Amino acid sequence: MITCDTLIRNARVLDGSGAAEHAADVAIEGGCIRAIGKLDDYLATHEIDAKGKVLAPGFIDVHTHDDTIVLRRPQMLPKLSQGVTTVIVGNCGICAAPVRLAPASGPPDPMNLLGDAADFHYPTFASYVEAVNAAEPAVNVAALTGHTSLRNNHMDRLDRAATEAEVAAMRQDLQEALDHGSLGLSTGLAYLSANSATTDEVMALAEPLAAAGAIYTTHMRTETEAILNAMEEAFQIGRHGKIPVVISHLKCAGINNWGRSEEVLHALETAREGQRVGCDCYPYSAGSSTLDLRQVDERVKIMITWSRPHPEMAGKTLAEIAEIWAVTQIEAAERLRPAGAIYHSISEEDMRRILSHPATMIGSDGLPNDPMPHPRLWGTFPRVLGRYSREYGLFSMAEAVHKMTGLPAVRFGLMDRGFVRVGYRADLVMFDANTVCDTATFEEPQQAATGIESVWVNGVLSYTSGEATGKRAGTFLPRQMRNMNTNIEMEKQQWV
Ligand code: ZN
Ligand code: CU
Repeated sequence: MITCDTLIRNARVLDGSGAAEHAADVAIEGGCIRAIGKLDDYLATHEIDAKGKVLAPGFIDVHTHDDTIVLRRPQMLPKLSQGVTTVIVGNCGICAAPVRLAPASGPPDPMNLLGDAADFHYPTFASYVEAVNAAEPAVNVAALTGHTSLRNNHMDRLDRAATEAEVAAMRQDLQEALDHGSLGLSTGLAYLSANSATTDEVMALAEPLAAAGAIYTTHMRTETEAILNAMEEAFQIGRHGKIPVVISHLKCAGINNWGRSEEVLHALETAREGQRVGCDCYPYSAGSSTLDLRQVDERVKIMITWSRPHPEMAGKTLAEIAEIWAVTQIEAAERLRPAGAIYHSISEEDMRRILSHPATMIGSDGLPNDPMPHPRLWGTFPRVLGRYSREYGLFSMAEAVHKMTGLPAVRFGLMDRGFVRVGYRADLVMFDANTVCDTATFEEPQQAATGIESVWVNGVLSYTSGEATGKRAGTFLPRQMRNMNTNIEMEKQQWV
């Protein structure tokens, strides 16, 4: 008899590679996967009969804004209850570290999505890493470094391009972050706090990334009419830095832009012939962020989720508020800001086409500090599995799992995660393929999914039968050296 900590018998294993399922037992020992197969000669402290449920690698949420919530609410129930075992924070140009706010000034838009001034006390990336490990979050945390946060550290105003000296200072911050395990640089060029940055500014910041084996992710300069130019800018930055590029939450935003997903994906495919490019996507036809006057369009339903001067208006649409105040929607929006909004401005057909593309990973883009969050915060992963794979058949369950596990692990260089393989970390989720589904809606957004049976983080049972176990086994995941891994051939396949 061979002994181990945990033995999961009779599982249908989806290993994260996209390969078809196979029946197996899986043994866990010391936080790692010890053996996979017919394990009759194994004896475990904890033995579970999966009874034909699916066992998959824990999901990797590649696009999150969980930077400060992992410290304040380390239980991370919105993510754990979906089967997510790793979150990547620091997206869209905004991160919690390294951040040094000017005295008596709050975080600028959209850094305010991450919290108030009091939530930003990580002047260095190293201090953030320490804080994450001290908080003992229930999920693993890996982090990008945000361009807007760096700008805010060194610039007196954000509505202009950075000077050479400011770029040099930002590069120092970025280098400190890379030295302590940052995955790379993210930008949010669409936001007014970064929109004045030139392509040259970003290219200069991208230069140290290649030597570190780091990556570039971007909420592009625009997702509306000029989206192809914005994509080309992202690719240009990738070529200049010789680094992989991830386009964040790829979509054709705005009614005038609907129906262009084929064109957009064609541009992505063309770029992939010559460089490493991928994207992520959330499975909804509505986006959410801070309220942006440029996105106000009377044809689009816009729901206000919070408002600093008018908290009582949360939950109403901008049209309703405009009517109450007897003003135009633009005027109402001006009065409501700073505020948060959900924009029903994406075509379902475009979203499905992008979601289905083999280059696309799953990322929630959930906003955990929002009092009325977009349902993607609690629903993204089960929704892809239940609604878009099982019900609509857009892709197989194996492919859906691959988009949330093996593909992101390889792209972000999380080399010992994302697959059910011997020697890999035991981040695992067991779910019922027949029932797994999201329950969070726009009306009732804070609801745990159904069908997620059990979740293990680093080999520790963290969620089961609809409840957290109270064990929090997550850890900070520093960037690993991608070019030292044995998966280099696979990495090539995943990108190009
Ligand atoms: Zn974004
Ligand atoms: Cu985002």
